[in-house]
Amino acid sequence: MSTQQRDSGFHALETEKSVAYVKRGKEYIAVVATLSDKLMAEIATLKMAYWPYDLSSQMRWMRDNLRDSDQHVLMRRGNDLIGYARLTLRDSKIIGVSTVCVSPTFVRQGLGTIVMAVANERIDAEQNRFGLLCCRADLLPFYEGCGWQRTSCDCFYADRPTEMYFRDSCIMSRNAPNRLPKSLLIEGPTF
Ligand SMILES: CC(C)(COP(=O)(O)OP(=O)(O)OC[C@H]1O[C@@H](n2cnc3c(N)ncnc32)[C@H](O)[C@@H]1OP(=O)(O)O)[C@@H](O)C(=O)NCCC(=O)NCCS
Repeated sequence: MSTQQRDSGFHALETEKSVAYVKRGKEYIAVVATLSDKLMAEIATLKMAYWPYDLSSQMRWMRDNLRDSDQHVLMRRGNDLIGYARLTLRDSKIIGVSTVCVSPTFVRQGLGTIVMAVANERIDAEQNRFGLLCCRADLLPFYEGCGWQRTSCDCFYADRPTEMYFRDSCIMSRNAPNRLPKSLLIEGPTF
């Protein structure tokens, strides 16, 4: 990275010239819609710290499940990818947030909160959409600290209305309408 790039706050990695990273604290953040194979492998490697799938299954899952309309929050320290979140459009009203993670070496240093702040900015910029995520109960305080609210609606697949959409039962939302229906039908695969 040249000094000029560093001072301007923008940072183009030699191997990733098309992505403009913005400096935030010690980290560099970008939001991208398209993932190169290299980026996908970096995300897969980061996810492998937490989800018990090997590199090839992670890559296969991403190739099968990521959509062109997805956005990806990337956080780097130097060249290393240390934080990630996926944003997924669902229906005309939902932005799903999933796969929020920070490298185990860097947890509890406020970086997850920064990744979520970037996700929040994207959600807040969309007047007619609200953010939705599903998490484990132990992470409710983390997401609440990130400005999300516990939400009591039950989510089902739109085309299979008796089948729960999420595996975990803790649903959180951001900017949701005051009166979300008790049952929310969501189109498309789980995010
Ligand atoms: C969840 C995760 C992204 C949080 O990232 P992080 O960088 O450690 O979070 P922050 O440092 O910004 O945490 C801010 C606050 O949230 C709360 N918090 C963070 N992680 C928490 C945890 N695992 N359990 C309970 N509270 C937590 C704490 O109050 C923390 O403040 P503190 O450290 O001063 O106590 C990270 O732990 C992670 O990658 N986990 C594994 C992957 C995962 O399970 N992702 C969630 C999928 S739904």
